[in-house]
This record gives sequence, structure tokens and C-alpha cells, in this order.
Amino acid sequence: MFITLEGPEGSGKTSQVPLLAEYLRQQGFSVLTTREPGGTPISEQIRDVLHSLRNTEMHPRTETLLFQAARAQHVEQIIRPHLASGGVVLCDRFADSTLAYQGYGHQQELAPLRGLIEFATGGLKPDLTLLLDLDVEVGLRRRSQCGGEWNRLDALELAFHQRVRQGYHALAQAEPPRWVIIDAAQSPEAVQADLRAAALARL
Ligand SMILES: Nc1ncnc2c1ncn2[C@@H]1O[C@H](COP(=O)(O)OP(=O)(O)OP(=O)(O)O)[C@@H](O)[C@H]1O
Ligand SMILES: [Mg+2]
Repeated sequence: MFITLEGPEGSGKTSQVPLLAEYLRQQGFSVLTTREPGGTPISEQIRDVLHSLRNTEMHPRTETLLFQAARAQHVEQIIRPHLASGGVVLCDRFADSTLAYQGYGHQQELAPLRGLIEFATGGLKPDLTLLLDLDVEVGLRRRSQCGGEWNRLDALELAFHQRVRQGYHALAQAEPPRWVIIDAAQSPEAVQADLRAAALARL
């Protein structure tokens, strides 16, 4: 079972993943948590290039390809082996982020992006995608206040982030069985309860 968490900046993905993993382990599942871009030493090096505020001149096509390079390594080295062993993989962002950010956000055509994703993942798709849906201004405010990393993508204009959120909605509507939309404006505890219920219903 391959479960991904998606959603705009500051919607709570990174803070919710370890809690959901712990819960699923208590239910007896072998759970691996990981994140994109990253999850392997090579992919984490690519993450640094993607997120660096020094790289503001990066073209959207360059950005798109670097994400797929990081993803290819991550799928082969980490995700597929754990799935093959019968475990659950819980991934903080995956290919839908490419469609939402590099597609809807940067307004690049989706069809070629889908081809690149297919190549990078070797056709691996999530079984369940949990969308943490949140007003983008609320999310960006959370991110800027939490004192963590403020990266090149966070720093893009508000309209970009609004297109990303709309993109997620369009992706979820196009493939309803795979997606569960969760109201990320709730308290962290209420969000976690919804995530647990959605994951357990599928497992
Ligand atoms: N439900 C919530 N209510 C209020 N604040 C929250 C909630 N969930 C998370 N936060 C806070 O918002 C900030 C961003 O959360 P987090 O890093 O988990 O988001 P994220 O979805 O991983 O963001 P990004 O996409 O930018 O990585 C953190 O400071 C976190 O504590
Ligand atoms: Mg995060």
C-alpha cells in the first residue's frame, strides 16, 4: 500500500506524517515514511538544488526534470523495495506535486509532465492520496511563522500558490477513488483523526 500526502505549503503534511505512521504501526503495519524531493542521499542533494534561494534563475523545465531525477532514484532505492516486502509506504509529497506545482503552478502543459512522471516512476502510482486542503495564505503564514526552512518555492507569488491549490482540486476531481480531501484548517488533532480514518478505511 502506497499512501501519499499532498497539499499546498504549510498544510501540515510534514507534521502529520510521523503521527500517522506511528498509529499505523500500532495497528500492526510495517510503515516506512519518506519525503519528496528527497528520501535518498542522491535525491536529498537534488532537493538542496531545487530549494536553494540562490537558484532563483531556475527555469520551470529544469525544475521539472530535477524533481523527476530525484523521484526516479527514490522510487527504485526506497519505495519499491518496501512495497515489495509487503509494507506500507507513507510519502510526504509525490508525483501529484509535479502536476500541481510544475503543471498548474508554472502553467506548463500537463501531458508531457505525465509522460515524464511515468518515466521517472516506472509507472508506480499511489494507492491512496490524502489531500490536506488549506487556504494558501493561511498555509504560507504558518510556514513563515514556524521558523523552519523558507525555500525558493515558498517564495513564489501568491497567484502561483493559488493555482497549485486549484490544481490539486482538479486532480482529485479527475480521479476520485484515489483521493481523500481533508480540511487542513482544523486543529492538528482533528486533521490527524481524519487522516487515520481515511488510511485505515483503505488498509
Ligand atoms: N492544523 C494546524 N493548525 C495550525 N498550525 C498547524 C497545523 N498543522 C501544522 N501547523 C503548523 O504549520 C507549520 C507548517 O506545517 P508543516 O511543515 O507540517 O506543513 P507542510 O504541509 O509540510 O508544508 P510544506 O509543504 O511547505 O512542506 C508548522 O509550524 C506546523 O506546526
Ligand atoms: Mg513539509
